[in-house]
Amino acid sequence: MTTEAYPWSAGFRSLTEEHDYRVEEIDGQMPATLRGTLFRNGSGRNQLGGEWFPHWFDGDGMIAALRFGDDGIRFRNRYVRTDNYRDETAAGHIMHRGFGKMRPGGILSNAFRLPANVSNTSVLMDGDRLLSLWEGGPPVALDPATLETRGVEEFGGKIKAFSAHPKRDPDTGELFNFGVDYGARCTLAPYRLAKDVLTALPRITLPYAVMNHDFVLTKNYLVFCIGPLLSTPLAFLLGLKSFDAALHWEGKKPTLILLVPRDGGKARIIETDAFFQFHFANGYEEDGALILDLCRYPDYLTIGQALRDYWKSDWPSAGMARLTRLQIELSTGKIDRRIFDTGTSNEFPIINPAYVGKRHRYAYILCNRADRLTGLQQQLAKVDFQAGTVLRHDFGPNGYPGEPLFIATPGDAEDDGVIVTLVFDAERKRTDVVGLDARNLAGKPLFAARLKHHVPFLLHGTFTPRLF
Ligand SMILES: [Fe+2]
Repeated sequence: MTTEAYPWSAGFRSLTEEHDYRVEEIDGQMPATLRGTLFRNGSGRNQLGGEWFPHWFDGDGMIAALRFGDDGIRFRNRYVRTDNYRDETAAGHIMHRGFGKMRPGGILSNAFRLPANVSNTSVLMDGDRLLSLWEGGPPVALDPATLETRGVEEFGGKIKAFSAHPKRDPDTGELFNFGVDYGARCTLAPYRLAKDVLTALPRITLPYAVMNHDFVLTKNYLVFCIGPLLSTPLAFLLGLKSFDAALHWEGKKPTLILLVPRDGGKARIIETDAFFQFHFANGYEEDGALILDLCRYPDYLTIGQALRDYWKSDWPSAGMARLTRLQIELSTGKIDRRIFDTGTSNEFPIINPAYVGKRHRYAYILCNRADRLTGLQQQLAKVDFQAGTVLRHDFGPNGYPGEPLFIATPGDAEDDGVIVTLVFDAERKRTDVVGLDARNLAGKPLFAARLKHHVPFLLHGTFTPRLF
């Protein structure tokens, strides 16, 4: 085991090279049923001119593609050619505002300038293009085969922001998403994208400016849990504070559970005690109730600071998220809460994507052992909501997995599939692509493909059975 104070620190270092090669070293066997391309996005460049960016979310979006073909596994990575990436690469230093970044030159240099789109959060296959997503602005279209940047996609001027957690209804194929507009009044703009046509659903005016990252799609609703993470847009706009520094937690205000009808009907708000989440595993309606599975933080204080310190944070467990099920009675608004035996530091919850909006039996989530007080996650848990059991896979003393991705393989069971995750090895300072049998999660990996370098900790990804 490495003896560094922050063994995960090297996993945040920039990957400046752009690679394209067949992975030679693979332990175990890639299943014959695993064929297709996995794309991931995240901050690939967190440092410039010898300095770390002030916030993890400042990093430049880098796409990593893994092609699982008959000829083995191919790895490619390329940066999204945003204006921010081009300008700062040429200059060798910070030139634009970001989530935490400020332009050099003080208040006057920052006033009335919005954060540059770094396109660093997720990816979405949309027909023959790959969309690189970022919460604060429009997607950037890429060629899925070469990862070359084609250009910004604004859907004919219909969107300002297109968040990084769109949800696709597995039955209808419709895609839903939203953007937050920090105008004179903060509004939430929901969208439906069906057959290449983007339709705006009625906007919802929020009582104050907030940051919101994800939502749940059910049979009838888009459901948002809007915790009191408030923004002070004026301080940000005048250049007095970065976007991050202008955020503050007002724990005496409620969390607003916002139900937006998919058919464009009037939205409903249910208030509950304050909590915060970035991510949901899934949600569904059943017997007059709404079930939401989410990573519930008591507030934004601990996670907010850890994201600022990222490479030099000890990532404390106390104050981090627990996988939580909320059951909301739609007639009364009464809410029951249940937590699960998934240790500490729960994040990146996922399900089999065929169950989006439906009753799911299983979720998969990164976690740590309950007695771990600090550190990035080193385990992956599989929760069986029906049996009430939890299986854990431990990646060993040097292994730090990223978000898991469920790839269905032939079979009738919800958990017939392979879980693929990128695991940073803090001793070798390299990243492995690890495949686990979702039905036997605690067992030995099916395969571990050893990359020639590290891949900085990324955020979200998607899988397509198409080979690019
Ligand atoms: Fe996210």
